Amino acid sequence: MSVGVLVSGKGTNLQALIDASFAPDFPARIAVVVSNNPGAYALQRARQAQIPAVVVEQVRFASREQLEQALLDALRQHDVQLLCLAGFMRILSPWFLSSFGGPVLNIHPALLPSFPGLHATRQALEHGVKISGCTVHLVDAGTDTGPIIVQAAVPVLPADDEASLGARIQHEEHRIYPLALRWVAEKAIALRGRVVQLDGLPEVSDQALRNPGKRVP
Ligand code: GRF
Repeated sequence: MSVGVLVSGKGTNLQALIDASFAPDFPARIAVVVSNNPGAYALQRARQAQIPAVVVEQVRFASREQLEQALLDALRQHDVQLLCLAGFMRILSPWFLSSFGGPVLNIHPALLPSFPGLHATRQALEHGVKISGCTVHLVDAGTDTGPIIVQAAVPVLPADDEASLGARIQHEEHRIYPLALRWVAEKAIALRGRVVQLDGLPEVSDQALRNPGKRVP
């Protein structure tokens, strides 16, 4: 399955997806990386992995619709069937989602439905939760509201600040995003209403969750 990744920043999740996709049995390959930020380090990660890296910058377009059309054009040029948002700092419109037509995944640094939107790690610290984590979900028209595919939890420690908690969460992000991509690319998930079901997936076990790049018999 041909995957596009939309980025705006550092691209550590992009790197985790690239690394996983190089495993011989991985069911998806990254066909293109698109950034709305020309300075995103993620673009360099793509180029280093010899993946086409495209910039689609808001200032070059008069409207959001035109920017989204340019995004779609870039994805179509590379026959993208499945889209991963990896630190992409724009909300995609319902028009974009239906025009793209395939599954769109996002990773969010909190245990949704708690703390959607910006600064999720700060929100969690300010709220005083004792456990936080990250979520990979399907993207719908809302902000971080789509069906949840997989989550990982981490403790919030008394001395944590945004950087230390953020680093603990990112470690888990890099583990679960490739796992979710594998499941979706293998068409191993089913939607019952808004509930993602992983039944029938023999590898959904603690062991699989600890080894996201590998198939566990
Ligand atoms: C991640 O924390 C992700 O949860 C959020 O944006 C951040 C992107 O980080 N959506 P990176 O660019 O993948 O390092």
